[in-house]
Amino acid sequence: MLLRSALALLPLLGTALAQLGGLYTDPDNGIHFFGFTEPAQGVTFGYVFPLVVGGAPPTEFIGEIVAPVDVKWVGAVPGGAMVHNLLLVAWPWQGSVVQSVRIATAMTGPILTQLPSTKINSTHWKWVYRCQNCVSWDTPVGPKNIPIDSFGVPAWAQSTVPVDNPTDPQSTFQEHTDFGFFGLDWTVAHVENDLYQGWTRGENGGGPPPTPTDSPTPTSTPTATAVPSPYDYIVVGAGAGGLVAADRLSETGKKVLLLERGGPSTGETGGNYIAPWAPGTNLTKFDVPGLFESMFNDGNPFWWCKDINVFAGCLVGGGTSINGALYWLPPYSDFSPGAGWPNSWGNHAPWTEKLKQRLPSTDAPSTDGKRYLMQTFNVVSKLLSSQGYRQLTINDAPDQKDHVFGYPAYNFQGGKRAGPVATYFRSAKTRPNFTYKLYTNVLNVVRNGAQITGVKTNDTSIVDGVYPLTQRGRVILSAGSFGTPRILFRSGIGPSDMLNIVKNHAEAGRFIPPDNQWINLPVGYNVSDNPSINLVFTHPDIDAYDNWAPIWNSPRPADAAQYLKSQSGIFSQASPRINFWRAYGAPDGRTRWLQGTGRPGAASITTSYPYNASQILTITTYLSSGITSRGRIGIDAALTARPLIGPWFTDPMDKQVLIQGINDLLSNMKNVSGLRLITPDNTTTITDYVNNYDPGSLNSNHWVGSCIIGTQGKAVVDENTKVFGTNNLFVIDASIIPSMPMSNPHGAIMSAAEQGVARIIALSGGP
Ligand SMILES: Cc1cc2nc3c(=O)[nH]c(=O)nc-3n(C[C@H](O)[C@H](O)[C@H](O)COP(=O)(O)OP(=O)(O)OC[C@H]3O[C@@H](n4cnc5c(N)ncnc54)[C@H](O)[C@@H]3O)c2cc1C
Ligand SMILES: *[C@@H]1O[C@H](CO)[C@@H](O)[C@H](O)[C@H]1NC(C)=O
Ligand SMILES: *[C@@H]1O[C@H](CO)[C@@H](O)[C@H](O)[C@H]1NC(C)=O
Ligand SMILES: *[C@@H]1O[C@H](CO)[C@@H](O)[C@H](O)[C@H]1NC(C)=O
Ligand SMILES: *[C@@H]1O[C@H](CO)[C@@H](O)[C@H](O)[C@H]1NC(C)=O
Ligand SMILES: *[C@@H]1O[C@H](CO)[C@@H](O)[C@H](O)[C@H]1NC(C)=O
Ligand SMILES: *[C@@H]1O[C@H](CO)[C@@H](O)[C@H](O)[C@H]1NC(C)=O
Ligand SMILES: *[C@@H]1O[C@H](CO)[C@@H](O)[C@H](O)[C@H]1NC(C)=O
Ligand SMILES: *[C@@H]1O[C@H](CO)[C@@H](O)[C@H](O)[C@H]1NC(C)=O
Repeated sequence: MLLRSALALLPLLGTALAQLGGLYTDPDNGIHFFGFTEPAQGVTFGYVFPLVVGGAPPTEFIGEIVAPVDVKWVGAVPGGAMVHNLLLVAWPWQGSVVQSVRIATAMTGPILTQLPSTKINSTHWKWVYRCQNCVSWDTPVGPKNIPIDSFGVPAWAQSTVPVDNPTDPQSTFQEHTDFGFFGLDWTVAHVENDLYQGWTRGENGGGPPPTPTDSPTPTSTPTATAVPSPYDYIVVGAGAGGLVAADRLSETGKKVLLLERGGPSTGETGGNYIAPWAPGTNLTKFDVPGLFESMFNDGNPFWWCKDINVFAGCLVGGGTSINGALYWLPPYSDFSPGAGWPNSWGNHAPWTEKLKQRLPSTDAPSTDGKRYLMQTFNVVSKLLSSQGYRQLTINDAPDQKDHVFGYPAYNFQGGKRAGPVATYFRSAKTRPNFTYKLYTNVLNVVRNGAQITGVKTNDTSIVDGVYPLTQRGRVILSAGSFGTPRILFRSGIGPSDMLNIVKNHAEAGRFIPPDNQWINLPVGYNVSDNPSINLVFTHPDIDAYDNWAPIWNSPRPADAAQYLKSQSGIFSQASPRINFWRAYGAPDGRTRWLQGTGRPGAASITTSYPYNASQILTITTYLSSGITSRGRIGIDAALTARPLIGPWFTDPMDKQVLIQGINDLLSNMKNVSGLRLITPDNTTTITDYVNNYDPGSLNSNHWVGSCIIGTQGKAVVDENTKVFGTNNLFVIDASIIPSMPMSNPHGAIMSAAEQGVARIIALSGGP
């Protein structure tokens, strides 16, 4: 469940460590810039400062942006995070470059001057500028600055969609279509003042490129000599799939190693990111269900994977530690041959039963059994009831998904997030032959033809970073829909365009197997995700809960106190308050399902009419099972994992059904007195609203299918989850799932993991 697009994430990632920038000299103007060319579109960002003289730090810099003409606007954020930060935006317009400097809040008079080497030719546009009074500024949260005497992580954003009004330097623009970060050692990004002053006057070049004199000499890492003892099973990734797999494997008594690139999450796992209002407890952001919405507006969101450009959790629990925790037991249809599963998976119910035994769901998570903040349920259920929907306990009847609604079911226990971390991982940890390592990033599997002999990691304490397998050992990749494909590409498994990117990468290229060992499989193809469209309403009964904004820093005191006392009340639940489903036939003969999730508050509102922000609620409408649209994911030259072709509405029938579903939902709004639709408002039809929806915002972060299960020639893994063409490499995570499950997927993923790992254990030839 996700209510925002990852693009909205840009303001949040202050500390991301991405590609490293360096020195280059622009041949057009001879300026020695420190910067970076992002690999997706090839946009270059450069900065240079005058020297620190006489203890007085510089207050200005010269910068440039060089972009291909397809890029319609570009933003540069030298401070690295957009909130309260200096943002420079430019775009080409009728032969010149329109420029602006923006900051959300007060900043003493930045002066932006375009320098003469600014140009537009048939292939590129280049903006070269001087920005004075641009190094430090005041904000409501205190002074901010570009950290010119240390290491920084400048950000960039860009779009292939033009700004709304290109003649107006302050024009609004749609959200960027791409963004990223690069690391830069600002301490070396300085030149002699005379040279700098010449460049500000438009003089060309001069002076030798600066040499970093005072940068610390790299200390050579002593060569590691430790060789870890071999493991029977190595599981990569401690998320929904990986934790189930690791636990069940460790149950057999085999020697199991679980490798996770992120750190702890909940208090139980050693996490200590505790809300300011919960000092002295072990109630972290990841424990307290009601803090879910605060995942999206935190100043230091260390939990997101910084090298995947959609939301993905990189910490113990993976997505299950940062998600809305909506937890649905899968219906029969989720694992049916019609959904793309091999026939042998048809009788899947016993595996869901195993999951349910380990991790039951609850739709009344507060420890006092009461439900809180239920106005949204009351209002939306009125709307649904008048359309013939009936109320159910959803997980008591997983197969009933037409015209039904109910309370959200969660993976919470004792008023806290539970999921696989508080169940499967908890039991695995007690077993003597189970080992896990955090902050350990798996780069590739070590492969000799079809045989995997270990995994290569960034662990510098062992020889070559390699964890070896026993003679008959096996590797299970559970790194998620983006993480697993990247490991496969880096291991020489996948389509040749992706493998060539790896081969050409300075670091990863050294470890990919030779071309004659490449295994061509459709890794990254066949992906789907639920397209989701938000509808925002107001109703006089609603308490929008301050749109969840103060929950981390200054929650309503009584609610915080109640939760601290007994893990009950509003904070014992994530934001959703109602879920519903309806089935739709379509002219192509397929049945598609609509899912709805209602919650107080809203992520974004577009209306020209006034409305009462204290009374807002959102219904997110998703197209779920039955979707036919497919996309493709892959990596770019920086090895960032990203969608290459969006999976939403590539089949127009999917869009038609979702529009129909939204129109039906709204058809009798008048039956609920006081209910008003504010986004879209009455100036926009539903068809236009859906047609013009920002594609990035359609993302539900429910990605499946990038390592699809099925038959040789069409799929990546076989019915035992083994990667075709290998002897002992398996995948257990969302990526094997052949088509969209009925509901938010982590229940279906864990259930699939139960069957998948049992098949691996039963498969002959193993340890
Ligand atoms: C914001 C958000 C909200 C969501 N809300 C819901 C919801 O309410 N209900 C629901 O059912 N689903 C929800 N989802 C989706 C759900 O969380 C995912 O579908 C699910 O977690 C995927 O499980 P997985 O095992 O495939 O991967 P993940 O859970 O992503 O786990 C992958 C793990 O592998 C690790 N890893 C990755 N690469 C490497 C590497 N190279 N080396 C070592 N470790 C690595 C990662 O750090 C991570 O821990 C949401 C997702 C997001 C992002
Ligand atoms: C246009 O300018 C860019 C940036 O200076 C340069 O790389 C490119 O080669 C130029 N294109 C042409 C056709 O001259
Ligand atoms: C752990 O592994 C060892 C060696 O493989 C085995 O002898 C032992 O029985 C295992 N322990 C358990 C508790 O299964
Ligand atoms: C928090 O967890 C630590 C480590 O498990 C434990 O020692 C400590 O007692 C816990 N604190 C509270 C307040 O529960
Ligand atoms: C809904 O409203 C319509 C009039 O707008 C009315 O005819 C109908 O009976 C109402 N249905 C229900 C179930 O309240
Ligand atoms: C390995 O990668 C992880 C995840 O990126 C990181 O936290 C860790 O510090 C890295 N380890 C080393 C030794 O660089
Ligand atoms: C807005 O809604 C709140 C909560 O229902 C209410 O107290 C307030 O009076 C409303 N404001 C206006 C201007 O109607
Ligand atoms: C649209 O809604 C606004 C605000 O509720 C209202 O003032 C206006 O009359 C409506 N317009 C139409 C055409 O219904
Ligand atoms: C996956 O995509 C590939 C490439 O488009 C295609 O050849 C294959 O048939 C698809 N597999 C399935 C199971 O749909």
